[in-house]
Amino acid sequence: MKVTICIGSSCHLKGSRQVVETLQRLVAENNLEDKVELGGTFCIGNCQQGVCVTVDGEFFSVSPDTAIEFFNTRILAKA
Ligand code: FES
Repeated sequence: MKVTICIGSSCHLKGSRQVVETLQRLVAENNLEDKVELGGTFCIGNCQQGVCVTVDGEFFSVSPDTAIEFFNTRILAKA
């Protein structure tokens, strides 16, 4: 599973770094390092909906407040 987090300036202002840190921590805590590949990307043109995250190409809008729920429903449930 490939998870890409936008680290463009608009998403950065909305907390993409916290989203990345939260997802990294949860992936590690659940021993998913070999199943989930976390990566960053520059602006993908969806700034209003940031923080922009894609899971195997499917788009999601995530914020630092929803990162844990996002992980549970979109990553952990499918990994
Ligand atoms: S900065 Fe993330 S979509 Fe533009």
